[in-house]
Amino acid sequence: MKLSRKAEAITSSVTLEITAKAKKMKSEGIDVISFGAGEPDFDTPDYIKDAAIEAIKKGFTKYTPASGITELKKSICNKLERENGLTYNPSQILVSNGAKHSLNNALIAILNPGDEVIVPVPYWVSYPELIKLADGVPVYVNTSEEDGFQFTKEKLLSAITPKTKAIIINSPNNPTGAIYTNQNLKMVAEIAIEKDILIISDEIYEKLVYDGEKHVSIASFSEEVKKRTIVVNGMSKAYAMTGWRIGYAAADERIIKAMSNVQSHATSNPNSIAQYASTAALQGGQDTIEKMRVEFENRRNYMVDRINSIPNISCRKPQGAFYVMMNISKIKGKTIGGKLIKDSVSFCSALLEGANVSLIPGSAFGADDFVRMSYATSHENIFEGLNRIEKFLGE
Ligand SMILES: Cc1ncc(COP(=O)(O)O)c(C=O)c1O
Repeated sequence: MKLSRKAEAITSSVTLEITAKAKKMKSEGIDVISFGAGEPDFDTPDYIKDAAIEAIKKGFTKYTPASGITELKKSICNKLERENGLTYNPSQILVSNGAKHSLNNALIAILNPGDEVIVPVPYWVSYPELIKLADGVPVYVNTSEEDGFQFTKEKLLSAITPKTKAIIINSPNNPTGAIYTNQNLKMVAEIAIEKDILIISDEIYEKLVYDGEKHVSIASFSEEVKKRTIVVNGMSKAYAMTGWRIGYAAADERIIKAMSNVQSHATSNPNSIAQYASTAALQGGQDTIEKMRVEFENRRNYMVDRINSIPNISCRKPQGAFYVMMNISKIKGKTIGGKLIKDSVSFCSALLEGANVSLIPGSAFGADDFVRMSYATSHENIFEGLNRIEKFLGE
């Protein structure tokens, strides 16, 4: 049986292969420390859970409008106004099954076959595949560790062609943890206006920022920028609600209408109970978020200092999200524990087999000189995991 060309073109994820191997080892009773987590290791706050239980008891268990309930859309509008200085009305909001679903809807709504979407490298694993699924073509723009993983104007301009439809930006960034500077965002905005390109701004990690940094939405620069920006955000990372599957998009009404139409036929409404819980989350106090943020900042500080104290590996201090990109370029070509480290996958495999530590190879993000370490795991695990890495590399 032949599968579709589209399905065949979707790359199977190396990330998943290494994670699956680590899981298998764990199930065999091996004490594996995993730095692969892409979600907060905190529980969803009680006031949110209580709102979900109340929604069930009140019978809010039926279909809702496909694009989401008005109460939640209003809460999202209030949040965007209060925290991001962005004024939207509910008809400019779409509630989806996670931010990923909003991104999927956005790409289907704006792309024609062959349209190009600019993706900064290192990138979140799903961007290229989502673009391809929507018949678009990802066009990569490299960023470098030395430039703090920021865009440079030259590189960005050289990637633009008459087929460029949109650019995806993600700040704070997965996997680099970088926050785009205001100057960089302004440069992207100016180019988008000049070249008539849409901006998809994935702001899912906005609450997880450190060193007194403040998240800025590119859409807040001017009405002109806002009109061509699709802001994507959600509940997953900020409220430790990854499993609830609620994300949202805010954009020009025409774009949101098209995205809502796509969603209405593909999935109908996102889970009704999770929508009520998300309304409560956005209306509630922000102190649980702050506690989580402070904990992440402490872990980051420890992890970064430890990595930079170990010979042959290094990292820059990321200002947001919960990932560190560890530079392994000095190790490539060396042999450790009898295994040749030729790339980030062989490094991760050797580390998993030789030291029972699981990391994500940078090749998954288009950056083979790196491996991604998540600090969404306990202090004890971070301490022990880094001890193991140090010992392994010492050998
Ligand atoms: C950059 C980025 N965008 C979007 C998402 C998806 O978030 P959600 O759980 O809301 O679909 C993730 C999740 O890992 C992410 O890292």
